[in-house]
Amino acid sequence: MIPGSETMLEARDIRLSFGDFVALDGVSLSFRRGGVTGIVGPNGAGKSTLFNVLGGQVRPQGGAVIYAGQDVSHLPAHRRARRGLTRTFQISRELGALTVLENLMLAFPRQPGEAVLPIFFRKTAVRQAEEEAIEHARALLERVNLWRLADAPAKTLSGGQKKLLELCRALMLEPGFVLLDEPAAGVNPVLVGEIADFIRTLQGEGMSFGIVEHNMDMIAALCDPIHVLAEGRVLTSGTFAEISANAQVTDAYLGGVA
Ligand SMILES: Nc1ncnc2c1ncn2[C@@H]1O[C@H](COP(=O)(O)OP(=O)(O)OP(=O)(O)O)[C@@H](O)[C@H]1O
Ligand SMILES: [Mg+2]
Repeated sequence: MIPGSETMLEARDIRLSFGDFVALDGVSLSFRRGGVTGIVGPNGAGKSTLFNVLGGQVRPQGGAVIYAGQDVSHLPAHRRARRGLTRTFQISRELGALTVLENLMLAFPRQPGEAVLPIFFRKTAVRQAEEEAIEHARALLERVNLWRLADAPAKTLSGGQKKLLELCRALMLEPGFVLLDEPAAGVNPVLVGEIADFIRTLQGEGMSFGIVEHNMDMIAALCDPIHVLAEGRVLTSGTFAEISANAQVTDAYLGGVA
């Protein structure tokens, strides 16, 4: 096998309709282990809906999701997350009244077995787990330059900082694979560069990513391969140079898909 060509996450023939509207019409595509795989396509193409299916937020009417060689189609989102498959959302889901640090602490799962321990040990175990979680959160926030804002209400962050907080929240679970839905949307260009650098660093540490993005600079800088979705179908897949040279792709963005 060619190094880096192994599949980590796969959508197999995903079908999903909202009433009569077919949002995903037999979508099959894969995401590389150790890679950053891109998903692009016009508004309404089905990109976020596909991420909802992959993450376990929405159950499709047909098809399967394979993660790390196992069919996870039947698993709810939190159980996929426990296996290492996490995601961020297009609209940041920060809890505005809570602080930056509290938002990260919420992502930390309670320890299994906590409830059955005797009360004295339970308190010790909970405190220890909490201390570990705070340490982990601090390390993450330092990496993205948000530690100085740890006690600020999340609603006071800029759009880009909220995106970073959302990414850190996904990273609290120490995932193997992260789906990012528009990590650059509404973010100033300097911070877009920082987010891209952070993703590349995490990739270097062995993490794999799937990214939906309209920002083509970010897609070009990070992603290979790139899958193009249009009207609920995979139009084509390839490198950035390949999809850019594809007339069908240009047509799809201009609304000209037949
Ligand atoms: N819960 C829902 N009920 C009905 N229709 C929906 C629902 N969610 C999504 N859709 C429709 O499905 C289609 C695909 O939506 P989706 O959000 O996946 O698009 P997208 O490719 O992420 O677009 P964008 O680039 O604008 O984020 C759209 O036409 C949308 O209106
Ligand atoms: Mg979307």
